[in-house]
Amino acid sequence: MNTHLICETGFDSEKIHFYGNKFLTGNGYMGVRGTLGEYRKEHLPAINLAGIYDKVGDGWRESVNAPNGLYTYLVIDKEAYTLPEKEVSEHEMCLDISSGILTRKTVFTTPKGTVSLTAERMVSMTNHNLILEAYSVTADYACKISVFTGIDAAIWDIYGPHLPKIELHQEGTYLVASGTTQETNIGVTTQEEAFCLFQSQEKIHINEDSILHEFLWDAEANVSYRIEKKVLVSTSRDTKPATKPQDYETERNAHIRFWNQIADDSYFEIMGDERGETALNYSLYHLNCIAPRHSESLSIPARGLSGQVYKGAVFWDTEMFMLDYFLYTYPDIAKTLLKYRIDTLPGALEKAKSYGLDGAFYAWESHEGGLDACSDYNIVDVFTKRPMRTFFRDKQVHISGAIVYALKKYLRITGETDILTEGGEKVILACAEFYRSLLLKRATSDFYEIYDVVGPDEYHERVNNNAYTNRMAKFVFDAAYELSGDTQWQKLSAQLIPPKTNQDGVIEQFDGYFKLEDCRVADVRSRLLDPKEYWGGAYGVASDTQVIKQADVVAMMCMFREDFSKEQMKANIDYYEPRTEHGSSLSACMYSLLSCYTGHPDFAYPFFLKSAEADILPGAKQWIGLVYIGGTHPAAQGGAWIVAAMGFAGLQIRDGKITCNPQLPKGWNGMKFKINYRGKQYEIIISGDSYQIDEL
Ligand code: BGC
Repeated sequence: MNTHLICETGFDSEKIHFYGNKFLTGNGYMGVRGTLGEYRKEHLPAINLAGIYDKVGDGWRESVNAPNGLYTYLVIDKEAYTLPEKEVSEHEMCLDISSGILTRKTVFTTPKGTVSLTAERMVSMTNHNLILEAYSVTADYACKISVFTGIDAAIWDIYGPHLPKIELHQEGTYLVASGTTQETNIGVTTQEEAFCLFQSQEKIHINEDSILHEFLWDAEANVSYRIEKKVLVSTSRDTKPATKPQDYETERNAHIRFWNQIADDSYFEIMGDERGETALNYSLYHLNCIAPRHSESLSIPARGLSGQVYKGAVFWDTEMFMLDYFLYTYPDIAKTLLKYRIDTLPGALEKAKSYGLDGAFYAWESHEGGLDACSDYNIVDVFTKRPMRTFFRDKQVHISGAIVYALKKYLRITGETDILTEGGEKVILACAEFYRSLLLKRATSDFYEIYDVVGPDEYHERVNNNAYTNRMAKFVFDAAYELSGDTQWQKLSAQLIPPKTNQDGVIEQFDGYFKLEDCRVADVRSRLLDPKEYWGGAYGVASDTQVIKQADVVAMMCMFREDFSKEQMKANIDYYEPRTEHGSSLSACMYSLLSCYTGHPDFAYPFFLKSAEADILPGAKQWIGLVYIGGTHPAAQGGAWIVAAMGFAGLQIRDGKITCNPQLPKGWNGMKFKINYRGKQYEIIISGDSYQIDEL
């Protein structure tokens, strides 16, 4: 079995949205949803642009989709053959994760025979403006075939239209669609060129919302006819104009070579577990589809480039869950992600000021310039249909700690200190000032406390002394002290209230958590009146209970493992897991990792799989209240890498030395993977309990 080929056989119209995510292709500049050429906007096709945002009227700000230059449909003897409208006798989509090519094969049954359509698509890794697509059509009888292909200007938007007036025209061999965003005034252009590799008649149709070539020919039975397309997507924010592509084959080969190298640099071999291996490498495929290789300062949104869900915004997901893979594989990309935070410091300073706080309060949902796209009413109540006041934006203060944590990790792993003078130092100090301005000291206490926050578990809002947040604040003070030698930071760190624990060593997630109703996830679920109901907030079903959305104390233990004994980690997993909904895709990997740290890889394994398969299998959460949250889950994908490398392989770098402490789950005989450490590549081979590290 080729574990690098991810296929779905058969057509299921219920799964169109899911496949759009599952079969995403992309190159960090843009993400192209895995939808079929004939789909129009109701099936959510998208060419989602990284870092390009807009706002229309009172709608939420969100990322922008370009005109769809992949629009293509087939007409046989004057009748259109498209999905989902027509019956098919065969249909298969396959994604090759080691070449970054998505293929489709569909066999339509017509009154006179069958017509087979195959297509391949790739979003070029070597020319970031370019998408390549080729179509081949074969009928088993002689017929008249038309292929309509060009640009669909009817774009799927959630809060659009962001390109309200799209201008369509022909320019030499290219069809062109261009528009300008409403609030941000960014020009977005799609150019499309299509070639028939055989004799046909060509007409151009300029319609109200599309511009299309029509290739028409008399097809002979059993002859395959191929059309190749090159689509160039660009924006007025590009630093360089799009370069005109070379011929299809040359561009295709360069793209494949690039992906082959990614697979060689970072894909895993897992001896004894094909399913786990495929899911993990598929996760790494996704991370590479959305890695901003074309930029020196850009980050990755929480739903990658799979659309406008979560506003296309950047969350703590990048620093805490995705960064590690890049740090140990492509440190330049890790730097690009961090530079984004450095360059968005002005937005963070502004946000802190707007709340009367000092320093840098980073955006919970970051857009360009660090603008916080998170609304104060970020969820719509299913019952009243009214927006609900949520406190993600103003109280999820752990975001600033995540950035300092990531910067420190970058410094430790790469040893590259330029980032400090390039703005990293300012970020660390500004975050320390921010946390200092949150500290309270009761008249009778020796300790500083932090009140009124939302921790990673978003269901419990406005809590005091969230253990995770406090630990992050302490970390930031320590980092500021280390950097500046200023003893005020050392004192603040030492005087921050320590976490409260019960007799078993279980840390109380926040003040008063243990006094909440003690019940299990199933109890809370059984109280729902509507499956889309929000569990948290003021009146949520989980709010007055100990049921939490996602890893919180457990996440803290993963980040600060040196603070805790294995026994204490285990006690906390045992306590919190039955009380965790895993309602966020960020949760499973943390439970998995901590279970590895405690020496329980078999308990860890199902959580690892859940993380790695977040987008291979259907079932991911699609709604929070009435807000659609479908899309890919790059934090879960990054989390899968963390578990495989840090958990199962037990990879650690201390004082410049790479070591492993393998903890393989049942059925795994060994692992093989590569990392990049300080400019050198190493291959790590694990076999049972032993391991070998070879410099390549
Ligand atoms: C989670 C957050 C996460 C966000 C984006 C939410 O559901 O609770 O922790 O940052 O999704 O992935």
